[in-house]
Amino acid sequence: MAIPQEEEQIAEAQIEPAVESRNLLTVTDVERTFQVGGSPLHVLKGIRMELKERQLVMLRGRSGSGKTTLLNCLGGLDTPSKGEILFNGLPFHSMSDDQRTLVRRKHMGFIFQAFALMPLLSARENVELSLRMAGVPRSEWKDRVTECLELVGLERRMSHRPFELSGGEQQRVAIAKAIAHKPMLLLADEPTAELDTGMSAQIMAVFQNIIRTEQVTICMTTHDPTILEVADRVYEMVDGKFI
Ligand SMILES: Nc1ncnc2c1ncn2[C@@H]1O[C@H](COP(=O)(O)OP(=O)(O)OP(=O)(O)O)[C@@H](O)[C@H]1O
Ligand SMILES: [Mg+2]
Repeated sequence: MAIPQEEEQIAEAQIEPAVESRNLLTVTDVERTFQVGGSPLHVLKGIRMELKERQLVMLRGRSGSGKTTLLNCLGGLDTPSKGEILFNGLPFHSMSDDQRTLVRRKHMGFIFQAFALMPLLSARENVELSLRMAGVPRSEWKDRVTECLELVGLERRMSHRPFELSGGEQQRVAIAKAIAHKPMLLLADEPTAELDTGMSAQIMAVFQNIIRTEQVTICMTTHDPTILEVADRVYEMVDGKFI
């Protein structure tokens, strides 16, 4: 039976496959050993993981299990002793420090537990600083800073300095600062550890929002079981390995 053209088009549209999200980061058999007092300390013991685009991935584990060590390797701040890390197809494990620094500046953003804002600069100036560091033309700063501070719900706090903001607000400025240069990957080490439950929930809502609007992938560490519920994927670390 002949299908009328319009129905045929609808049928075609429906069978079109959903867009598969790509691996942004692929970690294969990563080990990290430190030399402490002349003897080796094995901290990461064969990590395998994948981060797909636009995912919210969480690393959970006890203090000392190796979460920060792994996050540092993922962000190219440290290199594995063994194994491979591919970031957007680039072999992070075998690149030079300078090469990794360039990739990091352009494509990654970092958020830390203690907010890491410049105390004498306003929210607007703090976010601007990250655009200046990333080499974004000055003519683009104003609009992008406004956009980022609106995205984290701080449009009415742009002129405040960090000490004039609550902990949750400071962390939201830090998020705006970390995403201003449009990174592909955001790495956050215990971003909610210093915040109460309500403020932590706000931060997680902001993370979910920026994954949608900025198409970013987020990998974060946490101790907080209530936060894990919003993750697309949770990796549980015990003594340098995932279980
Ligand atoms: N540069 C280093 N030299 C020697 N040992 C290190 C170094 N960095 C980390 N370690 C050791 O590696 C282990 C894991 O540390 P890491 O900071 O990754 O843990 P973590 O899971 O982030 O803990 P926390 O939840 O307390 O932040 C610890 O025992 C730590 O002492
Ligand atoms: Mg840590």
